[in-house]
Order: sequence, then structure tokens, then C-alpha cells
Amino acid sequence: MAINTRIFAHRGASHYAPENTLPAFQLANEMGASGVELDVQLTKDNIPVIIHDENVRRTTNGVGFVQDYTYKDIKQLDAGSWYNERFANTTIPSLEEFLKWVQTTNMTINLELKTNVINYVHIEAIVNEMIEHFKLEDRTILSSFNPETIRNLSDMNSQIERAWLTQMRIRKVHLLLNDIGAQSIHIKTRLLSSNMLKRILQEEIPYRVYTVNRVKTLKRCEQLQADAIFTDLPDLLTKP
Ligand code: G3P
Ligand code: MG
Repeated sequence: MAINTRIFAHRGASHYAPENTLPAFQLANEMGASGVELDVQLTKDNIPVIIHDENVRRTTNGVGFVQDYTYKDIKQLDAGSWYNERFANTTIPSLEEFLKWVQTTNMTINLELKTNVINYVHIEAIVNEMIEHFKLEDRTILSSFNPETIRNLSDMNSQIERAWLTQMRIRKVHLLLNDIGAQSIHIKTRLLSSNMLKRILQEEIPYRVYTVNRVKTLKRCEQLQADAIFTDLPDLLTKP
């Protein structure tokens, strides 16, 4: 039996506004997304900021690595013009700015901790503390491609849901999730037809699928009982 698979805006409504910026998150909320996914990295002075790449080059007018910028300096960058001049002077949001805003909505929040390339020491504790400060534990999911990050969150005895992110086929899904302390899994669309998905369904493990930008794939995810899909187009079902 099909369920109502929820729509999570991937990096905000990133098809319509610059990814991982407040305009993209606000638009996702206006479009009725159930949730929003965003990527978290740390500045040199350990401030969590929202940006997908480790390097600022692709999505701002700057150069160099996020971890080499202080928060004050990274805030000087323009994170909107690369997408469209209409968004000129949009800045990279801090996690704190985002959480202050998202508190005023009902959206589920998925923070992806980008520790698969750079080992941001203490990112787990910093993010965990901030979610607790804003009392958003009940509607937050923390995810990462890095199993060690999930394990660190789990060891912290975090009450927040933890999801492991993968694009690989693995055999004993539930054993791995138990071992690292994850309650759910986020999988790439190409794993939809895999034996791995069969095992996920058998074990009744909650799972979400990225990145789904076609109605046909969304329908398939619904048939396959996915809890949510990540999409760049949160209006996928209603747009003409
Ligand atoms: O969290 C789902 C998806 O965002 C993972 O891949 O590269 O878009 O962060 P990426
Ligand atoms: Mg992501």
C-alpha cells in the first residue's frame, strides 16, 4: 500500500533560488514543503554555516575553503549573484540565522553535516547544542555520509534522529545502522531498484531518497513506502 511520501526541499527550493540561502528556504516553506535539507560546514572560528561545497568558489563570489574564513569574512561574500542578479548580496546563512527563522515555520529540518571531506572537529557537539538551544529536537534529523559523525552524535546520547547517507550498496543495512547508531537511512535514487532496498523494506527501516526531481520517481518512492524525498522542486506535484 502506498503512503504519503513527504517532500523535503533539497538545499531549499534550489531550482528556483540560490541553494542553501534564506530565500531558497523561505520559498520552500511558501511552496508547502514538509521539510528542508541543508548542508552544514564550520568556519575557521567554529561557526556553523550553510553551504554545500567545502570551497566557496562555486556558489559565491569568493575563493578558498570555508574552514579558512572567519565568520565575519565569510559573511562579506555574495552567495546569490552566481545564480541570478536578482539575488545579489544574499549571504551565506549561519545555522543560527536559519534556526531562528525556521522556528517560525512547521517544517522538519534535515541538517547534513559535511564531514565526508574535511574532518570538522566538534561539529557534532556544536550543532547538537544549537538544536537544543532552539528546542528543535523533535523536528530535526541529523545526517552524514560519514559513519564516524553519526557514531559521535550517538555517543553524545543525542535525542535527535540520526540518518546515515549513502550512495553505495551495502548488504547488512540494519547491522551497520545499529553499529553506528542511526535510526534511518538516506539513499540515492539509483538504489531504488536494488536488493538493498528490499532489505530496508523487510526490516522496516525508515528511508528517504535523494534527489528526486521527476513526478514519476516520486510516485515510485510512494509505492515503495519512502518516508520522504529530497527535491530541488518542492512544487513538483503542483507546477504546470
Ligand atoms: O542529503 C541528501 C543530499 O543532499 C546528499 O547529497 O551532495 O546534495 O549534499 P548532496
Ligand atoms: Mg546535502
